[in-house]
Amino acid sequence: MNKNVRKAVIAGNWKMNMTPSETAKLLSGLIPMVKGKNGCDIVVCVPFVDLMTAVTLTAGTNIKVGAQNVHFEKKGAFTGEISADMLKECGAEYVVIGHSERRQYFGETDATVNLRLKAALAADLTPILCVGELLDERDRGITTEVVSMQTKIALLDVSAEDMSKVIIAYEPVWAIGTGRTATAEQAEEVCAVIRSVVAEKYGTEVAESVTIQYGGSMKPSNAAELLAKVNVDGGLIGGASLVASDFTAIIDAAQ
Ligand code: 13P
Repeated sequence: MNKNVRKAVIAGNWKMNMTPSETAKLLSGLIPMVKGKNGCDIVVCVPFVDLMTAVTLTAGTNIKVGAQNVHFEKKGAFTGEISADMLKECGAEYVVIGHSERRQYFGETDATVNLRLKAALAADLTPILCVGELLDERDRGITTEVVSMQTKIALLDVSAEDMSKVIIAYEPVWAIGTGRTATAEQAEEVCAVIRSVVAEKYGTEVAESVTIQYGGSMKPSNAAELLAKVNVDGGLIGGASLVASDFTAIIDAAQ
């Protein structure tokens, strides 16, 4: 196991926060704070309407921009939806797929997550695929089964070549926005399970190269311990990514 072959990816998921003017303000503060910190990739996944502002402001910096969802059809009568080609043309490079809030509140299933993942790959976007168990599932001792199943279905019909472009985020649902973080050991255990699922399907070389993030109440005070784990290659950060100094501190922990 060689963690050094993988570059850490620290991604902020802003969720439904920040108008375009607030985006400009947050990024204007963040850009100088993270300048030259090239020990990890830095991504901000912003609301659709903030993409143009974020892409324009971060041009030529070490911050990359992503979206938070994508529809799986190329185009057509899907009122209110956004296609992968639209995101690409706006300058997005990443897209969050299958976040638990999409699964919980907007009826996303493992099957649609798979379709969205393939649509993102076809448009040359880097998907950040989210998987994670509910508290009840953890308490019943089926975390491994749930997360393995989510990962396997999401990766159906994804080639080994495409797999090397996928980032996976392990986000235990009970740790999201609750202030209750998984312990570093719990994060490591499930990230290792996910890597073994990837290895089973694509072989160890691909599995060793795949970035697997942890997400769920990651903050400056716990980031270093989580990121030190051999199978935890970065973070997907909600609340703390909305505060430039907190996000920077997490980026520092990943250097
Ligand atoms: P919090 O960091 O606010 O717990 O959110 C995590 C998350 O859902 C990132 O996608």
